[in-house]
Amino acid sequence: MRIDLKEAIRRLQSGEVIAIPTETVYGLAAPLTNVDAIKEIFTLKKRPLKNPLITHTLSLSGLTNTFPMHTEELIDTFWPGPLTLVLPQTNVPSLVRADLPTAAFRMPDHPLTLALLKEVGPLVAPSANLSGRPTATRPGHVEADFGKQFPILDGGPCKLGLESTILGYHKDKWHLYRSGSLPPAVFAPILSYIPEPFTAEKPLSPGQCFPHYAPKAKLTFGPSIPDSPTIIGFTGRTYKGAEKVFYLGPLSDPQEIAHNLFDTLRKLDDENIPHAWIDPDFPKEGLLATIFSRLQKAAH
Ligand code: TXA
Ligand code: MG
Repeated sequence: MRIDLKEAIRRLQSGEVIAIPTETVYGLAAPLTNVDAIKEIFTLKKRPLKNPLITHTLSLSGLTNTFPMHTEELIDTFWPGPLTLVLPQTNVPSLVRADLPTAAFRMPDHPLTLALLKEVGPLVAPSANLSGRPTATRPGHVEADFGKQFPILDGGPCKLGLESTILGYHKDKWHLYRSGSLPPAVFAPILSYIPEPFTAEKPLSPGQCFPHYAPKAKLTFGPSIPDSPTIIGFTGRTYKGAEKVFYLGPLSDPQEIAHNLFDTLRKLDDENIPHAWIDPDFPKEGLLATIFSRLQKAAH
């Protein structure tokens, strides 16, 4: 059910979980102060309690006083926007943090959700998909996972279509905890280094350990094209022998590909496709590297 801003405020304040738009993907939101509604998010999503949530907020005041080096510059430059920061010593409840000593924060760049945060205060929100399913980037995706009656603050299709980039501070450096809409090179002017993926035995972003983004269709990366396949490919290329091609967009426009990625994975299910082949021939750089890693996880 599509609802407007006023109705969204009313429902959140009365303890309901609703779906909210952001510039990256849709989120399933509850106020940071409402433990019962936050528990309901985990139940609705079938999300493991060990996977912590991001707090969406207009500011960090009242949430933490501990700022690792460059935190303020990162915030000044990238908020509102698709950057999530994992920070130590916060007031975030342990349920949201999955008992970790740190908590994740971001300020989303969507006018409706910014207005919501102003009225309701900080909101906890994971992506608005069932755990393991392709991320929801359109209101219809939220309906597909949670039913037509589920309340959705309708902000149209998400502009970016890939989740936020997550940075965390560890041993005197910012590290990449999850690749996302911002390629790591954009942080170099502030940090004077490019944050590297965190590769400890125990990954610091628990979400990375769980299955992700998978449609019901089996997905295969090349190298050779099987007979009469369904193909996920790039606009402008010809796929000889393909029965059906799902075009992600042109390789000259990685942002367009990101915008269409999860919608395309969900279309496979809408059309009951049993098996699709992904064109593997593209440069694994910048945003396309993130798109590649999402497709690899989806194909797992
Ligand atoms: O773009 C986004 O970030 C979207 C929109 C709705 O804001 N949200 C999103 O949430 O992608 P979710 O729950 O699907 O992914 C959150 C990720 C998970 O991988 C989780 O493990 C990580 O954030 N995370 C949360 N708190 C953390 C913490 N304290 N330390 C490390 N990773 C954390
Ligand atoms: Mg997610």
